Parts: sequence; C-alpha cells; structure tokens
Amino acid sequence: MKNNKPLRPIWQDDPDSVKIIDQRFLPHRFSVIDLKSVDDVIYAIKEMCVRGAPLIGVTAAYGIYLAALGLAKNPSGGDFIVGECGRLKAARPTAVNLAWAAERVLKKVLSAAGIQNKIETARNEAGKIAEEEVDNCRNIGTYGLEIIEEISRRKAGKTVNILTHCNAGWLACIEYGTATAPIYAAHEKGLDIHVWVDETRPLNQGARLTAWELGQHGVKHTVITDNAGGHLMQHGMVDLVIVGSDRTTSTGDVANKIGTYLKALSAKDNDIPFYVALPSSTFDWNLSDGVKEIPIETRDPDEVRYVQGLEKDVIRSVLIPPADSPAANFAFDVTPARLVTGYITERGICDAAGIRKLFPERV
Ligand code: MRU
Repeated sequence: MKNNKPLRPIWQDDPDSVKIIDQRFLPHRFSVIDLKSVDDVIYAIKEMCVRGAPLIGVTAAYGIYLAALGLAKNPSGGDFIVGECGRLKAARPTAVNLAWAAERVLKKVLSAAGIQNKIETARNEAGKIAEEEVDNCRNIGTYGLEIIEEISRRKAGKTVNILTHCNAGWLACIEYGTATAPIYAAHEKGLDIHVWVDETRPLNQGARLTAWELGQHGVKHTVITDNAGGHLMQHGMVDLVIVGSDRTTSTGDVANKIGTYLKALSAKDNDIPFYVALPSSTFDWNLSDGVKEIPIETRDPDEVRYVQGLEKDVIRSVLIPPADSPAANFAFDVTPARLVTGYITERGICDAAGIRKLFPERV
C-alpha cells in the first residue's frame, strides 16, 4: 500500500518524472527508479525493470509524456515527438501494448495545440490508459471467477488447482493482473484454490514475481520447474491453466512467455481447460497468423547462461553452463488458437471465433 492505495508498479509523485518499481531484483530487493527522460524509459523497458505487456504499454505512454516535456527545447516539434515515439516502440518487439499505447498518446499530442497543452494532454492520456488497464483487469477478474467457481462446484468445494506461467499479475498490469485477477477474485470470495507457479526460466518471473505477489496476498501456491506441468496434468493435479499474453491475433493465436505453448499442448492432451486472460490492448487486430507473423524477441544469451539469486543477503548471478557453451534466448512462443479453450477479456469470455464478436468496433 502507498498512501492507502494499492501499490502500483508505476506512478507519479511529481510532474517531472515517473516512478517505477525495479522488478529486476524482486523479491529480494525492493527499489524504485525515477524515469526522467525517454532514454530512461527505453532503458527500463529493454532491461526489464518494467515488464509485462500492459505495464510496458503504460510506461511507453508516460515516455511520450516525458518526450513532450522536451518539446520547448526542440523546434522541430511534431517531428521530434514522432521520432521519440519510434525509439520507444523499438524497445521490445513482441508485446503489442507498447506500440498501441505510445501511438495512442502520440496521436493526442499531435492534435493538441500549444506546448503546455500537448504536455498536459500526454500526461492525462497516459494516466487514462493506466486507469483503463486497472478496470480491464478488474473485469477480467469478475469474468474469470465464474470459471473457477464452476470448477469448485464440480469438485464439491475441494481445492481448485490452477497453473500459471510467467507473471501476469499486478506487477505486469498495474493492478490485479490479467491471469491472476480471477485467482485474486476467487481467493477473496473464500474459494479453496492453490496455484502452481512455473518458475519461468530464464528470468524466473514466476518464481520471483508471481510467487511474491501470491504470497503477499496469502494465496496458497507452489513454485515448480518449467517442465513439471505435464507431469502434474497427467496425474490430475491441475484443474485449470490461466496465462496472460503479450500479443494475441484477431484469430486467437497467443504470444506469451516462452514455454506457454508446451503447457497448452499438455493441457490439450490431458483435457484440461487452457484459458488466456488479456485486455483488449493486447489484441493485434492486424494479424491473423500468430506463428508466422508475431515478432518473437530474442534476448541476451547471458540471461540463459546466468541465474540470479540471493546468497547471504547479497543478490548474485552465477554461471550455469560451461563458460564457452553458446546459448539462445527466445523470449516468447506462440500458442495456436486451436489449443486455447477461451479468452478472458474485459468484455467477457469467448472462444477464438467469438473474439471479433466481443469487439465488433475493431475492423
Ligand atoms: O518478458 P516479460 O516478462 O515482459 O513477459 C511477460 C509475459 O510473457 C507474461 O506471461 C504475461 O502474461 C504477459 S503480460 C500480462
């Protein structure tokens, strides 16, 4: 909590900067970074101080605001801010929220008259996107709760075991989270639930962030290796899988953290419902074949070669493979729509064929 409000991963205390929680060192070190320039924002997104599709979008939106603050010093005005938007959009390629949010704020700024007005417009729009994402997540929680309630009824109140991958919690989405929103809603309602948390190599967003979030909320959970899910599903230890998404096509193909596809395959093979929880800002209405068309980020191989952890109160990185073994770091994969039971959105739950019906205004 901060000033009696739920803690968020991004906020403003003063008009000259934007504050973020530095997620790289959680759960062992809680630190806050002040972003004061577009370069700071690009660094924070690239280095994953902030991460998760909705949060990347909101951070980029505030990036346009910080760019607008520099308008007085840049006589080229519009060209300058368009250029800054281009630099922000290039920071990470897979999460579509980044380009969507940056462009939405840019459009407003370009159509506002006068520098002060442009600055205020950018700030308001970035704040509006953040609030919309909070509302989206709250609604995702309400709809997703119905799925958990139905399983709980079927199991006569016995523990509902939910598996999730990576972190699609409040740290990734401002409040509630996407994949975690139904989990928090079920917990608040007093349903007996337990969450299997995939550690999510290489950066361990599950073990570090989802486990931390769930622990803070008092939700029962167990961290598992990324390869354990299939075994658990074969043995009836998973009732439901809920994951987030970084980009989903209008046809329902889902880009999410690397390893999601394998969970979906296991779920299909074991007849376990596999749901994707996502706000409308994560749909890419221009794409129809996710495997072919969604750009998959490759990151520094050292993220695979080294693992970070706590030793005697000091956060350290240690090398795992032989020093001269090459490594590859594909950050996301695409789960084809045929493996997805349903999409939990802020407007309700649908299957792949129903996505366009839920969002008829999107062409
Ligand atoms: O590389 P990250 O940590 O930004 O990736 C985030 C994810 O892939 C999460 O799984 C999440 O579902 C998408 S954001 C809610």
